[in-house]
Parts: sequence; structure tokens; C-alpha cells
Amino acid sequence: MKAEPCTYVIFGATGNLSRIKLMPALYHLDVADRLPEGTRILAIGRRPWDQQKWLDEVSDMVKAKAKDDFDETIFQRFSARLYYHQGDISQTECYTLLADTLAKKEFPQNIAFYLSISPADFGPVMSMLSDQHLFTEDSGWRRVIIEKPFGYDLDSAEALQKRISHYLNEEQVYRIDHYLGKGMVQNVLVFRFANVMLEPLWNRNYIDHIQITHSESIGIDSRGDYYNSAGALRDMLQSHLLQLLTLVTMEPPVSMDAESLRDEKVKVLKSIRPIPKEAVHAQAFRGQYAKGHIDGEKVNGYLEETHIPPNSTTETYASMKLYIDNWRWRGVPIYMRTGKRLAKAQSSISICFRHPPLQFFRDTNVQCMNPNWVLLGIQPEECIRIEMTVKEPGLEMSTRTSSLDASFRNQDEKAIDAYEDLLLDVLKGDRSLFLRFDEVEYAWRIVDPILQTWAIERDFIATYPAGSWGPEDSRLFDKDSQSWRSSLTPECK
Ligand code: BG6
Repeated sequence: MKAEPCTYVIFGATGNLSRIKLMPALYHLDVADRLPEGTRILAIGRRPWDQQKWLDEVSDMVKAKAKDDFDETIFQRFSARLYYHQGDISQTECYTLLADTLAKKEFPQNIAFYLSISPADFGPVMSMLSDQHLFTEDSGWRRVIIEKPFGYDLDSAEALQKRISHYLNEEQVYRIDHYLGKGMVQNVLVFRFANVMLEPLWNRNYIDHIQITHSESIGIDSRGDYYNSAGALRDMLQSHLLQLLTLVTMEPPVSMDAESLRDEKVKVLKSIRPIPKEAVHAQAFRGQYAKGHIDGEKVNGYLEETHIPPNSTTETYASMKLYIDNWRWRGVPIYMRTGKRLAKAQSSISICFRHPPLQFFRDTNVQCMNPNWVLLGIQPEECIRIEMTVKEPGLEMSTRTSSLDASFRNQDEKAIDAYEDLLLDVLKGDRSLFLRFDEVEYAWRIVDPILQTWAIERDFIATYPAGSWGPEDSRLFDKDSQSWRSSLTPECK
């Protein structure tokens, strides 16, 4: 697919996501010569800034990210693409002026609208864009990129979808889950489907259980308002972690095209055994960070953070156990956890194989052998590791764990931010790394019973000290031999 020149219209351009991710990603695409000739970026913001002020702002955003790689000459070229449109997105005037601006000849008529705004504004903004006929594809394509969260629960997601489909057809909608733009996440597919030796082992006959962890040492920064109404289950598990689960467990798709890939992901989500309300306490745990230490520094508890009500029971840690009731995975527990202010920042998928029989080693020093693990480090360490048991050198028959390593990037290979990949895919019209509505819908179906139970149990939430690994949730595990794995290097038991 070829990237075509387009006008990127960014709603919420002065906000956090735009500063930290979107503008730096667009600049890096320009550095890599991947922005087609003529591409323009029109920022929409409420602040009364002129063109020069906007250019200075973007220069700061890009420098903060690019650091030593900042190139003044390329930034000059990038600046020529940038425009600022001042307006209040709740007022019709903003859209009439926008339509006039976009009709000018310097703006390509393929237009991508990036909605980096509060979910409550998605509907009204689309309605006003539609009133100005800005979604009509007479002179070029029109695409809309929608940031998460897509809804607040199943009902609200369905309502939002209904509203969107009033203005747009599905081909125009790009629901973003930035995890799918991460190189290592895409590498999960390559690892599974380009290496024939794994496929025979990738099932319930050989795999004991799967763990997916996304831990963060940061707190909620200035996002108190959003986070307190979302919580960890909505913020990370319903979206990013369930997406990781689909990639690790889905059947091989017939091809990498968007529909084939998403068909297989949806099949996994549909096969997940629903959690009955009475099983919520056995299959899901939550917690909230109390004050503690991160990297030796004292940090506040969640209730002391800005914009958090003193009696909030919003979870900053969530873990759950799921079962996929299909032929490949029946009976294999999948454990997932995420949290803020945990001991270290790490995203990883750990696949634990069954124990081999020990019979062969009877009458030797080998008492116990660790099972094989496949470890997929998503970030910050990007790696694939297979842990094997090998003989320890020496006269005795004893063993130790050693790992086969395939790191994702060599030292001289640059890291690419997930948003670079995804912003480019929009220009190419490639939706394979964006979510189809049924993926979002089935993901909500999975977590909805937990959300509903937690919503009525608002009197108490377990806490954990900042800098720890979260609240006690070992009851989640099916067997004594299973427990959270927090390291990507061999753990001796
Ligand atoms: C976002 C969540 O979607 O993902 C944040 O809203 C979280 O709370 C972030 O910190 C994690 O993304 P990444 O790319 O830093 O792992």
C-alpha cells in the first residue's frame, strides 16, 4: 500500500498526547522521508496562538523527544507543513472556518482527522464535521482516528459506535490501540507464524499457563480526572492487554490483511469463557497504591494525587484470570496484571511450558527442573528468550537454566515509536493494526462483569505500597507451582 499526500487535522493538538507522541512521530516520519510530498498538518487548539508561536511550540515538542537527533534543516522542511487553526471545538464557527481553510489549494483533499480529545467530545465533534460535509469523499478520502477509550463499558461503546456509523462507514474509522504499533508486539506475530518449530508446541498439550504483565513505576501524573473515572481495568486491561492476549493465542490468519487478522483476533475474544458475577472475586483482583518509595524516592499515595477525591476506590492495579474455551487452549489459564507505581516498568508475555517427567533423572543430583519458558519482552527490554534446562559443567549430573536469546534490535538499530507506524498506516489506508468494532465490543463483554461488580463494591479497596508488586492476589493461580513472574532472566526455584 502506498502512502498518499494528505492533510492531518489534529484535534487536541496542544494536549499531552500530541506533545509527547503525535508531533514527534510526524517529525520522525519526515526525517525518514516517509511523509508524502505535499502532506500538511493542521493543528486545532483553543489557545490564541499565531503561526510563529505554534512553530516554536512544536519545535520544543520535537526537541524534547529527538534530543541529539534533532536536525534544524529537516525541522525547517517539517515546519512548512504546519498550520494552526484557533477555535473552540464546541462552537459551529470553528468548523465553518475549518471547512474554508481546508478548501484552500495548499491542503490535500485526502484528510485524516485525529481526535485526540475527551471521549465525551467524539460524538459532538463528528456531528459538526459532518454538518460541514467534511466526511464526504468527493474529492479525496476522509478518515477519522479515534483514541481510546472507546466507550466506558459495553453499553456506552455500542452507543458511541451507533453514533459514529451515522456519519462514517467502517472503512473510514481507525480505532487506535497504540500497543499494536509497537515493534515487539508485531514481532509476536512473526515469532509465532514464521518459525515452524513453535507451532506444534503452541497449545494446551505443552503449555501450562500464560502470563501477561504491564507494570509501570510512574503514577498518574496530571491525568487524575481521566484516570479516576477509568481505573486500571479500563485503562490497560480491556484494551492493550487483551490485544496482546489475542496475538499470542489466535489461530494463524490466512494472510496479514486487515480483515483476516482481525477475524482471528475476534474469534479468540469470543471464545473467552465469560466470568459469571459470582466468580469475579476468584478471577479478578484490584488494588490502589498507597505512599511508598520508587527508586529510593518517597512518593505519594493515589489519594494524595491531584484531582483525586479522598474517598476514591478506583483501582490502580488490576489482575485477572481468563480461559479460552477452544480446542487449542481449553484448560490453560491466562493471567494478566497491570498497575501503576509498581516495583519496575515492564511489559512482557511469559509462556510457561509443562514440567517434563523427572523419572529419567532418578538417582542423580537433579531434584527439580525449571519448566521451559518463552519470554517475550515488549518494553523496555525488547527480546525473545527461550529458557532451557542444560547440564551444569562438572562431574556431577546437575542442571541449570540457560536461555536462547533473540533480541529485537541491534544496538545500531533505532527504536521506532508506535505512533510513527500507525500514523503512516492511516496514510496508506492499512487498517490491520487498528481495531474493528467487534474487537472492542467483545473486549468490553469480557471485563463488563468485573466492572459491574467493582462499581457496587465502593466501600473498600486493598492498598499496596508504591514500589511493590501490587496487592496480594496469589489466589488467582490454579496451582501452587504457578506465581507471577517478574523477571526476564532465569528465576531459580
Ligand atoms: C495508555 C494508558 O493507553 O497507555 C496509560 O492510558 C499508560 O495509562 C500507557 O501509561 C502505557 O503506554 P506505553 O506505551 O507507555 O506502555
